[in-house]
Amino acid sequence: MTRPVRVGVIGLGAIGQSLLKALTADPDVQVAAVCDVQGALAEATAQPLAASAWSDHRRMLAGVDLDLVYVAVPPRYHHAVALDVIAAGRHILCEKPLALTLNEAQDLHRAAQAAGVVHALNLPLHRDPGIETFRRLAQEEHLGTLRRGELTLVFPQWPRAWQHNPWIGGREQGGPIREVGPHLLHVILATLGPVGRVWAHTEYPAGDPAACETAAFGTLELAGGPLVTVSCLTNLPRPEQVSFTLYGSAGTAGLVNWAQPVAAAGEAPLEPVSVDAPRVPAGTRLVQALVRRVRGEPADLVDFSMGVRIQALLDAWERSSDAGTWVDVTPT
Ligand SMILES: NC(=O)c1ccc[n+]([C@@H]2O[C@H](COP(=O)([O-])OP(=O)(O)OC[C@H]3O[C@@H](n4cnc5c(N)ncnc54)[C@H](O)[C@@H]3O)[C@@H](O)[C@H]2O)c1
Repeated sequence: MTRPVRVGVIGLGAIGQSLLKALTADPDVQVAAVCDVQGALAEATAQPLAASAWSDHRRMLAGVDLDLVYVAVPPRYHHAVALDVIAAGRHILCEKPLALTLNEAQDLHRAAQAAGVVHALNLPLHRDPGIETFRRLAQEEHLGTLRRGELTLVFPQWPRAWQHNPWIGGREQGGPIREVGPHLLHVILATLGPVGRVWAHTEYPAGDPAACETAAFGTLELAGGPLVTVSCLTNLPRPEQVSFTLYGSAGTAGLVNWAQPVAAAGEAPLEPVSVDAPRVPAGTRLVQALVRRVRGEPADLVDFSMGVRIQALLDAWERSSDAGTWVDVTPT
């Protein structure tokens, strides 16, 4: 009988706990070790799982026989912790954004490739049936020639109610562009191809240089020419909005509420489109794909190369905001 894939989890905050549910629900996975610098949190999480608890990830990597390690620490620590995981020869799932800077992200990708380990990023919209339906509607047969894209993010409060932690409202690691942006930048890159240039403008609260943005606007110029406008607003008395619309010469295709596809022909109003396939929870899909890849079987994962491409867009966004001009996206 094939033995379960032995998994270790580093970082047991909001998202670490969330993916742990999908990991423990999969009969092909054994969560063998969990780690958090908050030792009591590691102990409390480990106990019902019969896993070992650690407060130092290096000691966990040296002390436990693991196949795969999930890195769910805040972005500032992704680079150092993920490098240790890769150096220990473990397959790795890392949270998004892959790192804090483009250099760090490239470094992680190179290290993972050199070590020959499976490397994956947790982007739950990947292979979501609603996104797949949208991608079908985004083809020329429906849209005609793509004229413009429009990404709209509105958060009634930032940090959002479910994700309060010391870094999410900070400029260094947090803010909606870094935190939510990667999900939609992934959809844009996977659906429309590379972005060549970025223009961005970011607004920060006056008098608090450490706080993240309250608003951001920008334009992504696709390598083929069309423009995608981006608008991100926070702390307004409106419901959360995460929507993406593609306007073509013959029709419109979009996503509302993250992953619900909508479409229209010509000038007709946008209507919801039923999703092509049944929805399986994102964590379940991801864990099943990881198990297959760790066992040497084919499976579709977002790997660190996409993490680097997303990081190059975040990097260009930041450079453009600082410079006040268009900037080229660094080729990856
Ligand atoms: N994929 C998604 O949909 C999604 C959603 C939310 C957050 N995230 C990402 O997940 C990561 C974590 O986010 P969160 O909201 O769970 O953060 P969090 O702050 O709630 O949790 C992070 C945990 O890591 C622990 N930690 C910090 N440094 C550590 C270290 N060196 N070793 C071990 N533990 C350490 C902290 O004590 C904390 O418990 C971030 O990169 C975030 O961007 C991804």
